Amino acid sequence: MISGIGLDIIELDRIAKLDQRTAKFRMRILTKKELAIYNSYSHSRQIEFLAGRFAGKEAFAKAMGTGIGAQCNFNDIEITSNSLGKPELYFKGEKVNGFVSITHTKNIAAAQVILQA
Ligand SMILES: CC(C)(COP(=O)(O)OP(=O)(O)OC[C@H]1O[C@@H](n2cnc3c(N)ncnc32)[C@H](O)[C@@H]1OP(=O)(O)O)[C@@H](O)C(=O)NCCC(=O)NCCS
Repeated sequence: MISGIGLDIIELDRIAKLDQRTAKFRMRILTKKELAIYNSYSHSRQIEFLAGRFAGKEAFAKAMGTGIGAQCNFNDIEITSNSLGKPELYFKGEKVNGFVSITHTKNIAAAQVILQA
């Protein structure tokens, strides 16, 4: 049974500006594991990756119904990729019963989350 859906879209130039201003932004959004992946990428791929994770996490917070806040912050959510590149969601260290899909173009990133119960 579907228990929640969430959708989010973000401009890459907005993320690029926030990311170049201070490393604090990416540290707020990404977990340690995600940060290590970010650091392994070229600059343009870093922005795409950070924007995709940002959108995925906002979409998850919407699907949960909490939004981003005390009950669900960016660092509570981790989006890993399996060996084929498929993204997988974790919340507070637990695998989420649900799905996330991420996309990016030259200008935007977007993500959709579906939760099951
Ligand atoms: C809901 C949230 C996840 C996204 O809000 P946002 O980016 O400001 O706005 P979006 O346009 O992506 O989404 C707005 C819609 O989210 C939905 N929404 C709001 N609260 C929600 C909740 N608790 N659960 C599910 N959906 C929610 C609403 O439908 C809203 O549209 P509406 O007001 O017209 O009905 C918000 O909790 C959030 O982003 N907080 C963190 C912001 C932040 O720290 N940003 C980092 C710096 S840029």
